[in-house]
Amino acid sequence: MPQETLADERSHDQACLIHSLHQRAAQEHAHIWVEGRGSTLIDGDGKEFIDGLAGLWNVVLGHQRRELVDAASRQMAKLAYSTSYAGSTNRRSIELGQRLAELCYRDINRFFFTSGGAESNESAFKTARFYWKTAGSPDKYKIISRVWGYHGVTLAAMSATGIASYWPMFEPRTPGFIHIESPYPYRFQRPTHIAKDDPRTDGQIAADLLEEAILREGPKTVAGFLGEPVQGAGGVIVPPDDYWPRVREICDRYDVLLLADEVITGFGRTGDWFGLSRYGIEPDIVCFAKGITSGYFPLGGIGVNDKIAAAIDSATGPQTWMHAFTYSGHPVGCAVALATLDVLEKESLPQRAAAMGERLLGGLRTLESHPHVGDVRGQGLMCAVELVADKSTKAAFAAEKQIGAKVHAATQARGLFTRLRGDVFILAPCFTVEESTIDRMVQILGESIDEVLGT
Ligand SMILES: Cc1ncc(COP(=O)(O)O)c(C=O)c1O
Repeated sequence: MPQETLADERSHDQACLIHSLHQRAAQEHAHIWVEGRGSTLIDGDGKEFIDGLAGLWNVVLGHQRRELVDAASRQMAKLAYSTSYAGSTNRRSIELGQRLAELCYRDINRFFFTSGGAESNESAFKTARFYWKTAGSPDKYKIISRVWGYHGVTLAAMSATGIASYWPMFEPRTPGFIHIESPYPYRFQRPTHIAKDDPRTDGQIAADLLEEAILREGPKTVAGFLGEPVQGAGGVIVPPDDYWPRVREICDRYDVLLLADEVITGFGRTGDWFGLSRYGIEPDIVCFAKGITSGYFPLGGIGVNDKIAAAIDSATGPQTWMHAFTYSGHPVGCAVALATLDVLEKESLPQRAAAMGERLLGGLRTLESHPHVGDVRGQGLMCAVELVADKSTKAAFAAEKQIGAKVHAATQARGLFTRLRGDVFILAPCFTVEESTIDRMVQILGESIDEVLGT
């Protein structure tokens, strides 16, 4: 397309649109994405990029999967929409519920569908409150989550999100949302009230911060603990192995529901179908979105365990679970989800995500010798490289140096597009990504770091 036309389109964009995390200046050079092929994105200039984050972690099967296009088209041609309000249902949502009951955690067998991640988390908060009200504990309403957690940006989800830059212009936050420290292996600092010779591991201490918060708030006021099995947008923070089992014990000890935000980790990203399985525990509510439709249709949801399902089933009259969305159980979304699950299963893609993730992490580890690569981490096909000013002190670069942004510009010039958290470079391509593309991503990132920070 001639350059002038693209410039025109960008000026129309600036005149007519407000973008997520809107920054007007960023739109002056915005990519106008026009096509995707597998793990490749093509912009209006005809330039090709490796889709380093699979869209926003969601396009797990890559672009142009015919099975998904056909499933959507078949369903649209037959029944484009139907309500799922009480008294109505549709065949695709029934099939998806059955399928998820087989795939998901053992005690989670009932599902409510939403249109995305924040709606799923909102549904989980409300369901946790609802459950405790039906159980005769109406004061249990608070939700504890973690610093660096990302849970979406509707008002309550934003209040649970633990990345403070999302808050200031929208405060006050919803009352009853409390944050504790993240189990961030690279940066975790033992709190000063903990003795130097305390024999607990960092993972155990990080989990025990939950117990401290529950006791501080009062166990009779805490409804749930919300966490991503691996924190994603906060910088791919992989917790120590002993963290989650201890969190589950603490939740059980104080009658606090465990809400797993699996919007990124659900459906194979960590190498398992769901993110907490490898720790041998189950949540009470699982929140999902993104990968379930490979991003081809906006669909998310929650799954609840049998005791919560029983509470929802038995409530009537003024106690009814009065929660709903127009697009809950959308037949087209459910059809696309079923087709996505078919491909994930048939092609053993969670296993492939594990194998490709190992290759990516192994490749990124070769960058560790660089004087400004502070940490390389990952689980499954979600990896990060944290750049620091000083490796010995782990001191970050001054924000105004814009190191992350400069490295990102350098990677884009070489044909890799992804996202950052400050100076933490995040890579999470689609599960069908080729080995050669993984190797190229590592090479591009290495060259870009060298270009911006020297060798
Ligand atoms: C873990 C997690 N939870 C929730 C959300 C919010 O999802 P949405 O943007 O669909 O509301 C995201 C989005 O990135 C996410 O990564």
